Amino acid sequence: MKNILITGGAGFIGSHVVRQFVNNYPEYHIFNLDALTYAGNLENLKDIENKENYTFIKGDITNELFINDIFSKYKFESVIHLAAESHVDRSISDPLAFAKTNILGTMILLNAFKNEVDYTKNNSLFYHISTDEVYGTLGETGLFTETTPYDPNSPYSASKASSDHFVRAYGETYNIPYVITNCSNNYGEFQFPEKLIPLCINNIINNKPLPIYGDGKYTRDWLYVVDHAKAIDLVFHKGKNGDTYNIGGFNEYQNIDLVKELCKQMDQKLGREENTSEQLITFVKDRPGHDLRYAIDATKINKNLGWKPSVTFEEGLSKTIDWYLNNTEWLENITKGTYQKYYDQQYSK
Ligand code: NAD
Ligand code: DAU
Repeated sequence: MKNILITGGAGFIGSHVVRQFVNNYPEYHIFNLDALTYAGNLENLKDIENKENYTFIKGDITNELFINDIFSKYKFESVIHLAAESHVDRSISDPLAFAKTNILGTMILLNAFKNEVDYTKNNSLFYHISTDEVYGTLGETGLFTETTPYDPNSPYSASKASSDHFVRAYGETYNIPYVITNCSNNYGEFQFPEKLIPLCINNIINNKPLPIYGDGKYTRDWLYVVDHAKAIDLVFHKGKNGDTYNIGGFNEYQNIDLVKELCKQMDQKLGREENTSEQLITFVKDRPGHDLRYAIDATKINKNLGWKPSVTFEEGLSKTIDWYLNNTEWLENITKGTYQKYYDQQYSK
């Protein structure tokens, strides 16, 4: 059996990646390392938690002794690294937390990999999951390609850019086999309701205002999370050592149009009169340093590895809404307690 370490596997994307690997590769033993911050939730993995090829380890990637210890103990062959602080708004209020986890945490993992993994003999890989936000912002036109220069604007994207550089540097300096993927905005089941789509789903259910930053004309490229997990599987097995791949949904939406589509679908599903939820839209103070537009050119992963998204945005959004409506207990459990405090601080400005 190959021991594979997935970090951040109790989070949104990580839980889908863990599920994808545990279910499809019985020949791998998947170790899910997660600190269970506010964003980590073992409820996301109920369906696979008792599988024989799965082990959960609670721990912090910034704890060097602990990380060295588990690398030495479990002899991981490869790492898929997703653990991070991931929300831009939180990076604006607490940038140091982002530097610590996203930069230092990644370096500690890289060092452990360098010192403990026999990567010259094995078919090993350090797979770093990154974001399109490292490229900064686009104007009205153009797309991010793998050669677009890094130009991050938020503490979050700067910390992710920095971690990407360290991964590449360890590859160049120590010949660590690595791959990096830079993905656009994910949506889907198990996303924490601080991000635009689940936040609005939760607020529509509860008839609360839908906060739209600025004029709502900011544009993102949305990808269904299961399609991201499938792309990660493909890159892990077929990606070229030292390469980077952009992953995107070929699916740009202005925030205001996306929220209107969400309102339309939710009114239908909740049996509410047409245009009921749209009345909840409220324009609020803009995010500082707000990137105008992200859009990914995913031609490379499509041409080289044959990946493309499997669902349209309308289908993916419909599946996502259905999941949240059928899992209100999951939503209620994570929106009580500290969530309300975060929400009040973020939206009362
Ligand atoms: P998330 O916030 O839902 O989950 C992050 C997970 O990491 C949580 O389970 C949390 O407990 C864990 N974690 C945080 N700090 C940790 C630490 N110090 N030690 C161990 N575990 C820790 O994030 P997500 O949206 O699932 O994003 C996962 C990865 O994908 C991140 O690296 C993010 O930058 C990247 N990414 C996200 C998106 C997106 O749209 N969400 C898009 C592209 C790339
Ligand atoms: O592009 C990939 C990135 O996508 C990931 O790397 C990040 O981890 C992930 O959080 C996401 O970043 P965004 O900042 O684009 O996602 P968010 O859901 O926070 O915001 C999406 C858009 O909606 C953005 O333009 C800000 C806006 N927004 C967001 C919130 C939370 C609002 O208008 N109102 C809100 O309340």
